[in-house]
Amino acid sequence: MSELTGISLTEDKEYLIIERFHGLLKKFKCSNYSHLYFMAREPERNDLREELIDHITTKETSFFRDLAPFEALRKTVFPRLLEQCRRSAEKRRLKIWSAACSTGQEAYSLAMVLQEMGVSPKEYQIMGTDISRMAIESARQGSYNRFEVERGVPPALLERFFETNSRNWKVKDSLKESLSFVQMPLHRPFMLPDSFDLIVCRNVAIYFASEPRTELFNRVSRHLQPHGYLLIGSTETAGDLGNLFSEIHLEPRAVFLQKK
Ligand SMILES: C[S@@+](CC[C@H](N)C(=O)[O-])C[C@H]1O[C@@H](n2cnc3c(N)ncnc32)[C@H](O)[C@@H]1O
Repeated sequence: MSELTGISLTEDKEYLIIERFHGLLKKFKCSNYSHLYFMAREPERNDLREELIDHITTKETSFFRDLAPFEALRKTVFPRLLEQCRRSAEKRRLKIWSAACSTGQEAYSLAMVLQEMGVSPKEYQIMGTDISRMAIESARQGSYNRFEVERGVPPALLERFFETNSRNWKVKDSLKESLSFVQMPLHRPFMLPDSFDLIVCRNVAIYFASEPRTELFNRVSRHLQPHGYLLIGSTETAGDLGNLFSEIHLEPRAVFLQKK
């Protein structure tokens, strides 16, 4: 699993494999888990590898998760970054990356904050990435059930940014503008043509062992603009990155790392 996703599964997590891959034994006509494992190593079994990734990843997320960082973005980080972009000679766009975005709620929350601030989608670009094909397809659709929207979207924003048939709430095209979703793993070296003003990389490194976790934050931060911000999960630490970042405490419970 670690090779496929970077996720570290110690022996005490064996139950997770059994619980999550049980259905795949039947689907891929495997008699046991080692058969499934060897099949997944066959070069042409990309279909099985995608399914393993979709099943083993924990996609827990919500709109405006942890709230405090979104307040800090609205009050402090976005105004600072927008000012820099507007002042730049070429009036460049604000570039944001939601890394390991799961089913898209994080990226859409960032877009809602910006649009609520009156920022036009022409002034920003948000890219959401995730290793799971299923998560990315769902993020692109931007359709959520009652439980998902009630977990975080205030009624006024629901009214402004979603359309509903009373069973599902679909993100309006106006919010999807300047937002893209791409399937991309983070645990291996990757190439990106852009560097970003803000990278949000929350609640994914917690599934990695200590060294790969620090490598992940290192790799991600290479794509930050000088003085750009990295936001990690509220219960996470970035490891030994003190040489690269200064910690900025904005709201209570909103710690950003600013590239030196
Ligand atoms: C718990 S969710 C976090 C979602 C969101 N960032 C948040 O904090 O609400 C973790 C996400 O990380 C993704 N993930 C796990 N391993 C990954 C990897 N190696 N590369 C990219 N994404 C990965 C999973 O597919 C999942 O969607």
